[in-house]
Amino acid sequence: MTDIISRALSKMEDVQAESRIALDAIHLLQNPTASVEAARELIEGDPQLSKTLLLLADLGFYGESAKTDSIKGVCDSLGAHRLFLLTASGAVFHALMRPLNGYSLTRGKLWEHSFFVGVAAGHIARIRGFQVPDHMLAAGLLHDIGKIALAEFLEVDSGKILQMALDRSLPFDAAEAEVLGVNHAEVGAAVLRHWRLPSYFAVPVRWHHDPDALKGESMVTEIIHAADMLSFMAGVGIGVEGLTYAPAESVVHHIGLTPLVTEKVLCATEIDMEHAKKITAEMGME
Ligand SMILES: [Fe+2]
Ligand SMILES: [Fe+2]
Repeated sequence: MTDIISRALSKMEDVQAESRIALDAIHLLQNPTASVEAARELIEGDPQLSKTLLLLADLGFYGESAKTDSIKGVCDSLGAHRLFLLTASGAVFHALMRPLNGYSLTRGKLWEHSFFVGVAAGHIARIRGFQVPDHMLAAGLLHDIGKIALAEFLEVDSGKILQMALDRSLPFDAAEAEVLGVNHAEVGAAVLRHWRLPSYFAVPVRWHHDPDALKGESMVTEIIHAADMLSFMAGVGIGVEGLTYAPAESVVHHIGLTPLVTEKVLCATEIDMEHAKKITAEMGME
């Protein structure tokens, strides 16, 4: 592990502590013999996590039947696997809500960007008729978690990184890697592995800016990459780096991201963003 990755992981210790109960519930639910009841007791012990999961369940994440007003109702209707995904989706909600000065993201903007990418990925799959796994939504919500870890390093170097990106027409993640030695995608994947989350989260997080470099099954990563690019196009969470990115041509071609598909995805996601902004207003100011 590089020195910068271990230093970045140490910057996540407070996030890990804040998300302790969510992570305990996630680890419990990863066990094939998991008891939903035991996970429910853990979740109910954390009022902030309970509130977050109720809000996400109310959006219809992982099933319309989970739109209830109690954690018990959510747990009973989702079952172990979908409760695991819901908890993974909400585990770092408060950390995503933080302002990240190094990326010029004010309070709530990384959460809104992450939400956009998660739901837009689902719309891309639905509109194009792709069968995708349930975990794509959580992976989309987690895709930029590495930014939380790198934000402090970037506060020192963001001007230099942005200048390098502009001078050499580099995407921001490549300039990050040149200046810091790692980019936020590598750090994000390292965080998820360090937290013992499944590789089906870490892989799309690692390659979301470089889907061509991923060997093997890449549909989830490609769709998250496309959704990320659409978020920048829509001006959601563009921060310091948004204008330096371009979609991978291979992905545009492979998933059929035509202007009509793009327009349909943007329209559908725009409606969902009203919910995200309501949640930002409700939770972000606490
Ligand atoms: Fe990213
Ligand atoms: Fe992103």
